[in-house]
Order: sequence, then structure tokens, then C-alpha cells
Amino acid sequence: MFNRFSREIRGAHLNAVSQLQHTRNIYRFPLKSDINITKNGKTHIAVGQGGRSSRTGYTVSIFGVTGFLGKILVSKLAKHGTNIVAPFRNGRSKRPLKVNGDLGVVNFHEFDIRNVKSIEECVAHSDVVINLLGSSLNTKNFSMADANIEATRRIAKAAKDYNVDRFIQVSSYNADVNSKSEFFATKGIGEQVAKEYYPDATIVRPSPMYGHNSTMLNQLLPLRVFGDNILFKQEIYPTHVQQVAEALERITFDDSTLGQTYELYGPERYSRRELREMLKYMTHIGMLGYFPAAAGYYMPANKLAVKFWCWFNEKFSPSMESFNIDSYRRAFIDQVIDPKAFTYKDLGLIPDDMADFLYTYIKPHIVASSQALNRTVYGRDDVLKLRDYVNTPRNSLDLLDVKS
Ligand SMILES: NC(=O)c1ccc[n+]([C@@H]2O[C@H](COP(=O)([O-])OP(=O)(O)OC[C@H]3O[C@@H](n4cnc5c(N)ncnc54)[C@H](OP(=O)(O)O)[C@@H]3O)[C@@H](O)[C@H]2O)c1
Repeated sequence: MFNRFSREIRGAHLNAVSQLQHTRNIYRFPLKSDINITKNGKTHIAVGQGGRSSRTGYTVSIFGVTGFLGKILVSKLAKHGTNIVAPFRNGRSKRPLKVNGDLGVVNFHEFDIRNVKSIEECVAHSDVVINLLGSSLNTKNFSMADANIEATRRIAKAAKDYNVDRFIQVSSYNADVNSKSEFFATKGIGEQVAKEYYPDATIVRPSPMYGHNSTMLNQLLPLRVFGDNILFKQEIYPTHVQQVAEALERITFDDSTLGQTYELYGPERYSRRELREMLKYMTHIGMLGYFPAAAGYYMPANKLAVKFWCWFNEKFSPSMESFNIDSYRRAFIDQVIDPKAFTYKDLGLIPDDMADFLYTYIKPHIVASSQALNRTVYGRDDVLKLRDYVNTPRNSLDLLDVKS
């Protein structure tokens, strides 16, 4: 009796296990169907159960793959077996990408935006081209117009010539052909260029992105920034880089996103200056003895001096990620949301709140010696309290706890 009963249970258990083994984990696998027909009529058959050895059947070329967002996007796409063509120009920056996918999934191809043939080779076998290539600096070899407009033109043209199904252009928040900022203007023109070749291109405009080693947070961390009162004036809706990558993954496999413009932004509006103040407390920068507070280290300056400083940086260290004349212009242009654009919600995503992640990304920057004095772990509530605190007007005597 006991044996029959246990055999039945075991049989039911094995059935459940075998069913599970044949069910693809839809939360991890991006495709809803095994057989997918692309816009140009190619058929892709997905195989596997959603893990590393699965294949979606799609091939995606990602320009700008070695950048901050590119690395995360590859990890999302390659882990389900979407074949990646990864154009690179610097052998060292491509190396960490290889391990994101199974053998043969991440394929490198050296390219140069001045060499059209190398671009064509990168797109020739792809179903989707994602263009993340962009720059907010004018360097000795490439201007912002080269990276944001001309490169887009060449990549989109090559993709069109090789009959690639889809083109996804990653632009920027505030992209506008009439903007006073060279970066925003070139990004705006880049969108138009992409649409010339692909009228149904999907345009994605991310806000400033935070994550591990993000430029957005790194720029706010130095002890002193000359003219921080002006350079950090801009108000933005920071967004999580992991979520931008997830949104791009969804867009890649969803043809209903054709021809749409997506603005990907976080739920909270911060000024960079306010964030810098918060980070000073979190990283204990400027601690004076036992005062657990950011004391001093302001280097305010007037507009003319800051403008000259930015011009000087651009002239004499143009390839450094320091402040240039266009960062000065951008400081006066707050982020504006286009109400007509689609957002995370249209992709089924709830935007991440920065307060939940700030400490994770800032922790590696906390001065080790100061941790002995201040071991606060900033959870969501503490970050929100800190935000209120830095926005409360006070005078310098508050640090000494002296009532004025
Ligand atoms: N990060 C943000 O907060 C933010 C905000 C708004 C918009 N965006 C836009 O989103 C996209 C991705 O951002 P990201 O932060 O990942 O950018 P990123 O880290 O600066 O990466 C840019 C990518 O473009 C490549 N690239 C730039 N100029 C090139 C050139 N002349 N020739 C060949 N390759 C070139 C870089 O290659 P190398 O690695 O070889 O240098 C890198 O792979 C960019 O278009 C950016 O403008 C970013």
C-alpha cells in the first residue's frame, strides 16, 4: 500500500519535472513564440529552454557595444543566445564582452566609421541594427557631428543596402535640431538621418544613465569642481542603465515598436547639484575631523570664468572627459519630457527609482578611512531623508550644532 502510494507521488513528481523541463522560462526568454517571421520574411526558429545554450535565431549588430550601455545590452541579449555582431575599434575594451554568451554567440568585427566596407561587413548578416555609437566630446579625430550624425548615416545606409529588417537609433534626452547644445543638436539631426533611411526606425532617448562606473555619477564625485554652482545646474530625470538595456531588448523583439519614439526616464527629477550634495554626505567627502558632514569644498565661480575654464579644457585636453564648452551650454538646458513619446510603461516596465540603487553604486567610492567614523548604510528611506536634508536651507553653524 505504502509502496503504491509513494510510487504515485514519485510519478506525479517526475511528470511535473519533465513538464518544467519542456516549458521555456518566459520571464527570462524574450520571445513568446518558437517560430518568428521577421518584417522582411525571414523565419527564425527559437531553440532551447531560455538558458545560455538556447538560441533565439536572431542576429543583432550593436554599434557602440564597448560603451557603458552596450556592455549591459550584450549581457541581456547574448544570455538567451541572440547572435551578436560586436563592432569594435579598441581590442581591450571588447574583451569582457565575449563571456556574456555561449560559444559563437558574441562575434567581434573590427571597424572604423571612416571605412564604409568595415561597417557593411558588420551589418551584412543581421536582422536588427542597434546604434549606440555616440559622443559628447569633440576629439582630435572625431567631432560630435562625426560620431552622432555621419556615423549614423553610414551605419543606416549600410543596413539599408544589406536589407536589414530593423534599425534602432539610440539618441539622447533633449535631442533637438535647434538646440543650443552641440550634443543635443547633433543627436536631433542623427534621429532625422536614421529616419531618412529607415522611416520606421525606432528612436530611443535615454535620460542620463546611472549604474556601476557611470559618467553621470562619476562627474559628481570629485572633491572639488571649479564652478560647480553653474556646471551642476541642470535638472534631470536619471534612469537606470539596466532598465534602458531591458527596454532595448524588448524593443528588439517587438515589431509593434516600429516607427515609435521612446523617452526612457526615471520617476524623480533631481538637479545635478542636489545629487552632488547628497553624494558628498554618502561618500563622506569633505569630512572635517569628527563632523559627519560635507563641509566646504565649494568652488563657485561666475559664468564668464566657468565658460573660459570649459573653453580652456576643450582647447588643451580635448579627449579628456572633463568639462568642455558644450557641457557649459548643457548646464543651462534642463531635461524636457516629450509628452507624445512612449515610455517604459508602454514596454511593460515600471521605471526604477534612483533612491533604491544609489547606495549600491556609490558604495565603492566611499573613502575607506572615513568608514570608521560613519558606517551608515543608505537604504531608500535614508536616501530620501538625505535629499530633504540637503534641500533644507541652513547656515554653516548648523554643522557645529550651534543655534544662531
Ligand atoms: N550615458 C548617458 O547618460 C547617456 C545619456 C543620453 C544619451 N546617451 C547616448 O546613449 C548611447 C550610449 O551611451 P553610453 O553611455 O554607453 O556611451 P559611451 O559609454 O560613451 O559609449 C559610446 C560608444 O560609441 C563608440 N564610439 C564613440 N565615438 C566613436 C567613433 N568615432 N568611432 C567608433 N566608435 C565610437 C565608443 O567606442 P569606444 O569604446 O571604442 O570608445 C563606445 O562604444 C550614446 O549614443 C550616448 O550618446 C547616453
